[in-house]
Amino acid sequence: MKRKSVIDIKEMKSMRPIVCLTAYTATIGRFLDSEADLLLVGDSLGMVLYDHENTLTVTLNQMINHAQAVVKSTSKACIVTDMPFGTYEESVDVAFKNAATVMKETHCSAIKLEGGQNMFETVKYLTNRGIPVMGHIGLQPQSVLVDGGYRIKGRDRFEWSKFIDDAKALEEAGAFSVVLEGMAEPLAVEITESISIPTIGIGASSKCDGQILVTEDMVGLTDVSAKFVKQYINIGEMIKSAAVEYRKEVLNRDFPTKDHVYEMKPTIVKKEK
Ligand code: KIV
Repeated sequence: MKRKSVIDIKEMKSMRPIVCLTAYTATIGRFLDSEADLLLVGDSLGMVLYDHENTLTVTLNQMINHAQAVVKSTSKACIVTDMPFGTYEESVDVAFKNAATVMKETHCSAIKLEGGQNMFETVKYLTNRGIPVMGHIGLQPQSVLVDGGYRIKGRDRFEWSKFIDDAKALEEAGAFSVVLEGMAEPLAVEITESISIPTIGIGASSKCDGQILVTEDMVGLTDVSAKFVKQYINIGEMIKSAAVEYRKEVLNRDFPTKDHVYEMKPTIVKKEK
């Protein structure tokens, strides 16, 4: 099966829900490739892998290194790489230069950037020049400082028109899909019904055209307890109990056993005549 393209993802809007997850490493990419339609190398890696306070410190080189690993370890999922803060806002030229570097160096299928109407010119410029773009509106983690925290959007009806216009601007500019993060459920439904490109929800609605979660949140490798996260397994606990058992065995000299060590080559003893 060949890798899903952004057109395949776009066409899924009218077919079935689109399964998306984040992947930052070759190991995780390899496990998820057969189950996800789209894997996002998200800038959330700054917080999840590097323990940063927010995503603002993530660099283009970090994104490139992680995206290279994910592209290399997968062959089916559409791979999208996040443009980190400060690499696309300044001008359309800067955005193109950095996005083209990401595409060239990683061979990923598309980039993602945060913003709606304010990014109209940039998304249009990139898509007209061969770079597929996924938008990201609602709660935008790269705006955490101006927003004064991670605030859910659209809980008041009067806020809605801004977000609906953001989604329409991205559609008109040529984005192939848009992430709807952290917004009131009815707003996510309204946006999904208002545009022809797929909406990918996180803390949004089951009626979005697809869903995305940060994989580490989903498998219990982070301590994020936000309402929108569902933990399907707790690998963090499994790692901890494996380490407890290992420590016990090492201290008791129960590990390694004969099964884990190498023997000498058998020596051939010549018979004396
Ligand atoms: O960086 C990220 O992981 C994201 C998803 C939460 C959509 O942008």
